[in-house]
Amino acid sequence: MKSIILACLILSSVFASPPEEFDRDKYEIGEQVFDNKCSSCHVKSMDIQVLMSNFIEHDNKVLNLLAPTGNEISFRLKSQIGSKDDIEFQIDEVTDFVKDYLINPDKAKTVCLEGVVKHFDTMPSMEGKVTEQEMEDVTFFLYFLEGWNGINKYYEKDEF
Ligand code: HEC
Repeated sequence: MKSIILACLILSSVFASPPEEFDRDKYEIGEQVFDNKCSSCHVKSMDIQVLMSNFIEHDNKVLNLLAPTGNEISFRLKSQIGSKDDIEFQIDEVTDFVKDYLINPDKAKTVCLEGVVKHFDTMPSMEGKVTEQEMEDVTFFLYFLEGWNGINKYYEKDEF
């Protein structure tokens, strides 16, 4: 019995740990960029069921959000761009997308659901308002915001 409990504990700690590409310092620096430069429009994280009900059933009139939330963007970036099989490469591809979107936003390039993005005007360009480094750090934060256990307080379960 003891060994079963021990095996479970070891297994759960293995599954709970973030991938090796994760860098807590970079994530926290990126989170500060998000808090300073993105959070006036983007809420960081909200329950997906609540969000879907707001957008699909209530025409965004329950939450009156100004933009997709960070966790929605995080989920969509990882599912629409590249492959999670190669995290390092996917982070590069996602960074290219976000950098381009921040400077040249255009809803035709959206990774978000049509039923979500139709509630918003195109994002204003952030040209001159964010540095290269800030764009890289905030993308790193967005990439890991949703989906890996143990990285942040919003997600307790491993969603992979
Ligand atoms: C003035 C409000 C505003 C600010 C500030 C803002 N955004 Fe946005 N953002 C929006 C809106 C509105 C959308 C949805 C429409 C769209 O996709 O263009 C959006 C969409 C996005 C998308 C998804 C693009 C897509 O449709 O696939 C990303 C990624 C994004 N923002 C990143 C950021 C980051 C990172 C920052 C901070 C550096 C930021 N935004 C700051 C308003 C804003």
